[in-house]
Amino acid sequence: MTDTATPTTTSAALEQAAREQDLVDRVVASFAGCPDPRLRQVMQSLTRHLHAFIRDVRLTEAEWNTAIAFLTDAGHISDDERQEFILFSDVLGASMQTIAVNNEAYENATEATVFGPFFIADAPEIPRGGDIAGEAPGTPCWVEGTVTDTDGNPVSGARIEVWEADEDGFYDVQYADGRVAGRAHLYADEDGGYRFWGLTPTPYPIPSDGPVGRMLAAVGRSPVRASHLHFMVTAPGYRTLVTHIFVEGDPQLEIGDSVFGVKDSLVERFEDQAPDTPTPDGRDLGGRPWARTRFDIVLAPRA
Ligand code: BEZ
Ligand code: FE
Repeated sequence: MTDTATPTTTSAALEQAAREQDLVDRVVASFAGCPDPRLRQVMQSLTRHLHAFIRDVRLTEAEWNTAIAFLTDAGHISDDERQEFILFSDVLGASMQTIAVNNEAYENATEATVFGPFFIADAPEIPRGGDIAGEAPGTPCWVEGTVTDTDGNPVSGARIEVWEADEDGFYDVQYADGRVAGRAHLYADEDGGYRFWGLTPTPYPIPSDGPVGRMLAAVGRSPVRASHLHFMVTAPGYRTLVTHIFVEGDPQLEIGDSVFGVKDSLVERFEDQAPDTPTPDGRDLGGRPWARTRFDIVLAPRA
């Protein structure tokens, strides 16, 4: 090879980089006249990051077509009950990152985590000490705690929504029979206290029969979520808290949660109780084993 090979290659590479950068600049500039400054910022930043990704991995046209086919499949499988784009956001950690950005750490306030697709707004009200399980199968679990502000003052009347999968790993809405089970809402008492019967959470997979499931399989990732119980807590003057508690000792905590929802501060001890152990409210469980846990909730003030 002669000495001229390197300068020639370098100038071609420079020309290539200049063409790629010119395209980025022109697309960014196309949004310059956007009258909404926030929309302008979002679209220009999206353009820069998207082009940087394409250039970074030197995306092939076949790969881009695969991505388009993936998004098309996600659209086709989505409907009022199935939302594949949220699942995609969840498994990429984008949902958790958005939650992190929007729920800034505040003193000792309880951490937020992913909402998930299985909340419904009109779950039945139960009295304190009531049972959310309905007909859902599983090991009964006594859940109790308090809702306070960051100074420890009770948040009397806080509305607590709870929902969870049954021991077979399904939420009520995943059955075709219209059942309402494993979900309810209740209110904290004047001391901020709450208590209810639920089910000991078990691990379950996120829906994996669509493009997101195929993507997880292709990259060798598990669709399984760590065992958890969902909470949403609302009270006037406080930031709405959407969170879960996780089960200490659940092996899935080590393996990894498929949607990156686990925070150490949300892992709680669930204490298994032998059959015939007296229950806190005197409920007769017919000799079945049960469990109990405690989750004290601290709300941040509304910004
Ligand atoms: C859930 O916890 O129910 C869930 C969260 C994210 C994706 C799928 C399910
Ligand atoms: Fe869940």
